[in-house]
Amino acid sequence: MKSLIVGHGGREAALASRMAESSTLFAFMGHENPSIARLVERTGGAFALGKVVDPAAITAFAVEHAIDLALVSSDEPLAAGVVDALQAAGIRTVGPTRAGSEIEWNKSFCRQVVSEIAPDANPRYVVVDAEDDVVAAVERVAGGGPVVIKPVGLTAGKGVRVVGPHLADNAAAAEYAKEVIRSSPEASVHIEEKIDSPEFTIQAITDGTHTVFPPATYDYPYRFEHDTGPGTGGMGSCALPGGLFPFVTQAHYDEACRITSAALDLLRAQGRHFSGCVNAGFFAMPDGVRVIEFNARFGDPEAMNIMSLLESDWISALEKIAAGTLSDGDLVYADEASVVAYLVAPPYPVASPDRFHFTVDEQAAEAAGAQVLFSSAIELAPGEYETLGTSRSVAVVAKAGSLDAARAKVAAAIDSAISGGLEWRGDIGVFPTPVTAP
Ligand code: GLY
Repeated sequence: MKSLIVGHGGREAALASRMAESSTLFAFMGHENPSIARLVERTGGAFALGKVVDPAAITAFAVEHAIDLALVSSDEPLAAGVVDALQAAGIRTVGPTRAGSEIEWNKSFCRQVVSEIAPDANPRYVVVDAEDDVVAAVERVAGGGPVVIKPVGLTAGKGVRVVGPHLADNAAAAEYAKEVIRSSPEASVHIEEKIDSPEFTIQAITDGTHTVFPPATYDYPYRFEHDTGPGTGGMGSCALPGGLFPFVTQAHYDEACRITSAALDLLRAQGRHFSGCVNAGFFAMPDGVRVIEFNARFGDPEAMNIMSLLESDWISALEKIAAGTLSDGDLVYADEASVVAYLVAPPYPVASPDRFHFTVDEQAAEAAGAQVLFSSAIELAPGEYETLGTSRSVAVVAKAGSLDAARAKVAAAIDSAISGGLEWRGDIGVFPTPVTAP
């Protein structure tokens, strides 16, 4: 069995590490991710470096190597139609087509889907594409209350700005919305009421018809401890034994699963192919849930939680997904806690021309009970690395019977195995205050 992963982030490293357990791994990456490159080498596969938004190049690589099964689970390749191209070339592929992934790359389409299947689960929102309409829209949406500004297209988690943590007030929010609209003739923004409730995500895994719901995940999008600083792609994430959180009841979880299934049913009814994972984000509120967004792929880093807890064979599950025969028994999870912490260069998420040198002793991390998964980093020499670009550099993942034990493993692994001044949030695993159950 020859499998192919498209992408080069920590999420792809986690997915690839499970694919490499029972297949020969091939990879198409934008840069040489050290974790993925090692898995490729160990299993006797091959990798190519190129643009992960180039469907023709990826398809040519897959055809050249007679790939049996491909997995695409990152936003830009999906929006670029990589799954469409692989499928057209006869490659069995897990992942939504461009039409299926519109639920992520077009926030207005996502809100329309939710309006049809669960109108009460949408926050109040307005879509604006003219600067002159912004101030009135801010007032109309929130009646003076705080708002959230979301650029309609893909922003790698960094375009969303919230009054409070990111923007001083609604006037600053209006200025930001205008700035986004000015940035391109096609640009538009969602102006949404700000909801002050804890968030959770579910990495729903689907063959398009049947969906399996793993433990809920919790992401830490803010750069600094106590949820301060700019938004990031996610500084860490966790899952708990039992699959819920102190602020997520079984009723919240069940409602979130129902809404996610209904969204997938609607996509299918519209002829939009969707297989793989929906990273479905929700607010847990006293009266139920509200949809934050649907991502058309695994969350990064939440994929690492799910892959660390998965006890069954991932390649077999991917084959079932591709065949449209997925069942609950194909995805079995350990009833444990899983914690991921991302380490980043100090300026992150601000762009910096500097590269930061760091060292990683993967055996020391393993001895502490943790796994190291590289993301935007390159290997200079064995154990010596450099940060790359403006994304997250390296993740440390651990599971254990309790949250505290998993946190302790991650902290011990970082302490003993990684040096060089990268930064991470020590409060991964600290949760917001519970809300009253619905
Ligand atoms: N962790 C958030 C995301 O993957 O979009």
